[in-house]
Amino acid sequence: MGTKTVGIANQKGGVGKTTTVISLATCMAELGRDILVVDLDPQSNATSGLGLPRQEGRSLYRALLNPMPIDSLIQKTAIEGVDLVPAELDLAGCEVEIARADEYLHCLAKVLRPLAESSRYDFILLDCPPSLGILTMNALTASDSLLVPMQCEYYALEGLSVITNLLDRIKQSGANPRLRLEGVLMTMFDTRTNLAEQVVKEVREHFGDAVYETLIPRNVRLSEAPSFGQPITLYDSHSSGARAYRFFSREFIKRARAHAADERPTEPVVPQDAPVAAETAGTTVEAAETAEAVAEPTA
Ligand SMILES: Nc1ncnc2c1ncn2[C@@H]1O[C@H](COP(=O)(O)OP(=O)(O)O)[C@@H](O)[C@H]1O
Ligand SMILES: [Mg+2]
Repeated sequence: MGTKTVGIANQKGGVGKTTTVISLATCMAELGRDILVVDLDPQSNATSGLGLPRQEGRSLYRALLNPMPIDSLIQKTAIEGVDLVPAELDLAGCEVEIARADEYLHCLAKVLRPLAESSRYDFILLDCPPSLGILTMNALTASDSLLVPMQCEYYALEGLSVITNLLDRIKQSGANPRLRLEGVLMTMFDTRTNLAEQVVKEVREHFGDAVYETLIPRNVRLSEAPSFGQPITLYDSHSSGARAYRFFSREFIKRARAHAADERPTEPVVPQDAPVAAETAGTTVEAAETAEAVAEPTA
């Protein structure tokens, strides 16, 4: 499938962007995928959540301003299959400088392009800051698709239209015509309230299949894990949070595969008489597990 670059964005803070990036990366790595997480938030929560210290001078800061190979900035994490480009506080200041650059929306795209073309990673996940500023716009210009985590709360729909309008603008301006909505992930779902169910129903009415079947429950273990510098799969592998993100990672990969198939030329890719691939055989299991994630009480 090559490398898919996915921006994880929402202008609001505290909706589960970073938790989703870390959990999705580690769950996909469990499934054998190679993942690069790029921490674009000067608050460095993805960096610390993956157990790495903030190191001044090791972020994308210089690379964005003076295109240089990104390889020297990539660090291994304790999780096999997950690498990281960390953030640092200086990234905040770099927005002002980027704004003065030629083609300022494309700074990140230029840095990531050789890496994406090398197919070293299956997915590059860009953890965006909680704003629609220059770093987020750079992320969306560099991405194949946008994944929006949404908290199950009032005004979810309103918030969603803000970010999807930005997606449309970036597409239509020509900055990134291929950008598409990867999906909307409802987070912090609280089974004890009717509100959460109403919100999900309303968002599904407007965004249909773009909303993932998997709902991420509110789970205290997910909120504890970052202070130990561990992803949920290590911190508490059997928690409802870890299970939900495992279901989600399967659903995410399946949809990404479907999008890739849409975008391929119409020639049949698999000859009729090809042996059934193990991946295809596993599809029904994945579907059943995803359905279970939805049906299952998530508290
Ligand atoms: N499903 C969840 N259940 C409980 N706490 C969560 C959940 N998802 C995230 N959190 C916690 O909520 C806070 C905000 O989440 P975070 O992923 O950092 O959001 P963002 O990156 O959008 O600002 C963090 O303290 C995080 O640990
Ligand atoms: Mg964050």
